[in-house]
Amino acid sequence: MTADKLRLGVNIDHVATIRNARGGDNPDPVRAAVMAEAAGADGITAHLREDRRHIVDADIDGLMAALTVPLNFEMAATDEMQAIALRHKPHAICLVPEKREERTTEGGLDVAGNDNALAAYIAPFRDIGARVSMFIAADRAQVDACLRIGAPVIELHAGAYADAWAEGRWDDRDVELAKIADMTAYAHSLGLEVHVGHGLTYDSVGPVAALPQVAELNIGHFIIGEAIFQGLGPAVTEMRRHMDEARK
Ligand code: PXP
Repeated sequence: MTADKLRLGVNIDHVATIRNARGGDNPDPVRAAVMAEAAGADGITAHLREDRRHIVDADIDGLMAALTVPLNFEMAATDEMQAIALRHKPHAICLVPEKREERTTEGGLDVAGNDNALAAYIAPFRDIGARVSMFIAADRAQVDACLRIGAPVIELHAGAYADAWAEGRWDDRDVELAKIADMTAYAHSLGLEVHVGHGLTYDSVGPVAALPQVAELNIGHFIIGEAIFQGLGPAVTEMRRHMDEARK
């Protein structure tokens, strides 16, 4: 069975990275989110990190007020972030692992090793109607654990696939793609909704978008980078075109 329409969630974190390099208000990630929505993004993703290195609390207020598409609020499983999420009631909450020293989200969340704690942690999110997803490696034990704790959605970490593609390691790329494909089919057969994200580009998005059970891709860094050359709206439209081509 195929997920209905493949959705594109645009991650606007790196607009904030540029803003924060100088302090002040420009460029405004909320304005970027509104532009991405106008260009066809089906949702906006933003990661409020513990160190606030990209978006900050006021951006979440702005995004909640300005968007008509759903906000996917990415966060670490901490008490502080739980309180913030419960206050804002975003459409979706994606739990990610977070290490202060990492440049980006480097690995998946270890749901299998923490399932009791995570089951209790996500329970209040169900009460506010937020769709909870777990950002995990394409690994069967992690998928099984997500089902066990009652998370309705998983997001598979595409970083190893994207890195192999970027570095021209074609055998590794194929191995990583096969892992994503297998775990997508497996998770979907268990009734989980499957998202994929991290490091995707115009080149690498096609084979992932072509997987029929994938419901959503979350893409940020590459789109924001392309916006420098093409403009944000055209970069979103172009990514959408690559996804639709692959899905045909
Ligand atoms: N999905 C999740 C869960 C993420 O944490 C991120 C950002 O690291 C992305 C998608 C988007 O990744 P990128 O910015 O590399 O496209």
